[in-house]
Amino acid sequence: MHDFIFKNNRLLCENVSVEEIARKVGTPVFVYSRKALLDHYRKLEQTFAEIEPLICFSMKSNSNLSLCRLLVQEGAGLDIVSGGELYRAKKIKAPAQKIVYASVGKTPEEIEAGIKAGILFFNVESLPELEMINDVAGRLRKKQRVAVRINPDVEAHTHHYITTAKKQNKFGIDLKTTENIFLNLRRRFKNLDICCIHVHIGSQIERVAPFIQAVKKAVKLIERLNAHGANITHLNIGGGLGIIYKKEQPQTAQEYARAVIPLVKNRGLKLILEPGRFIVGNAGILATKVVYVKDTAVKRFIIVDAAMNDLMRPALYGAYHEIVPAIKRKKMTFRTADVVGPICESGDFLAKDRRLPAFLKQNDVIAVMSAGAYGFSMSSNYNSRRRAAEVLVSGSRFRIIRKRESYSDLVKNEVIGNE
Ligand SMILES: Cc1ncc(COP(=O)(O)O)c(C=O)c1O
Repeated sequence: MHDFIFKNNRLLCENVSVEEIARKVGTPVFVYSRKALLDHYRKLEQTFAEIEPLICFSMKSNSNLSLCRLLVQEGAGLDIVSGGELYRAKKIKAPAQKIVYASVGKTPEEIEAGIKAGILFFNVESLPELEMINDVAGRLRKKQRVAVRINPDVEAHTHHYITTAKKQNKFGIDLKTTENIFLNLRRRFKNLDICCIHVHIGSQIERVAPFIQAVKKAVKLIERLNAHGANITHLNIGGGLGIIYKKEQPQTAQEYARAVIPLVKNRGLKLILEPGRFIVGNAGILATKVVYVKDTAVKRFIIVDAAMNDLMRPALYGAYHEIVPAIKRKKMTFRTADVVGPICESGDFLAKDRRLPAFLKQNDVIAVMSAGAYGFSMSSNYNSRRRAAEVLVSGSRFRIIRKRESYSDLVKNEVIGNE
């Protein structure tokens, strides 16, 4: 997190004090570094430069319009998973021919919207979906490109909730059925150009070995199918690159590229990547304020104004996020504490049994680090809590890129009747 560093004991995002942002904008607030976001994207772009892949930022990790627009302006495509994300992509004028669309449950309406927008690929996850896209494309008198998302039955060695390529997972199509699609069923789908294999094995993957295993399987499959006249021109290897939350030592972009490039180079395939977490995870933090410090007979609880509805990862996966005070002191002693939110669930915690500065008290601002990916995008209104504000820092300036929700936002779609 090179763009979040302490200077004179103050946590800065680029050149702006996180404490200052928290005081001016209020808390909880997500704070992103423009520089970090773009640096991470460029790192991938540079390491893969010799094969010029299409890098589609995975919008589910963070779908904020301003952040996605920065990446699109930099040349990124988008990986989307819903009609809502397509709407967002259109809103920022993302080139449709750089959009790929995954999800096991695309509805006919969403498919129609994608075809009409002219997206590059639907990443198809079942036979019924293939039928549906073919039907909708036929009705619209369009020919649509599709990728078959394979389930290669590879162990990604990550949290089981974010493992996506085991036989037991709902994602993708098994290799035998994929062969059948390309070699036999293809002719039935007159409105489809089935010309890509897609494989995404999971998220927060720290070792290159599972990626290599999956890419090798995919390339072998493509060569076998092309030898039988399949004409597969694209390979999409998804996202999944792990980042440092604690003391992980994930593969670097260079190591990843060095492992992948030789497997796909000179095979006449256009490579597509779908990174999310790698680009935005460490480009953002969540700043929150201490509401109370509660000492019990067995524990200290630091109760803050952010909660599991703002950052769900600790509650959902037991995920670790580093927590630091926005202002440090020269001499600090530490106490073990849980950092918890105000929500009525024991699962509502941001950190458990953490060594934190003993001085933390009411109104102090703390930062939950590495919260840029699957932070705001997973947030909800649970307990009728307003979703947080988002701020983008660029050098010495910052601006609000999403206003904090108001109480009237919370109820704006509700209709009170006379029953
Ligand atoms: C199909 C697909 N592509 C890309 C991603 C992005 O993964 P990550 O954020 O780990 O790079 C995901 C995440 O779930 C995904 O399901």
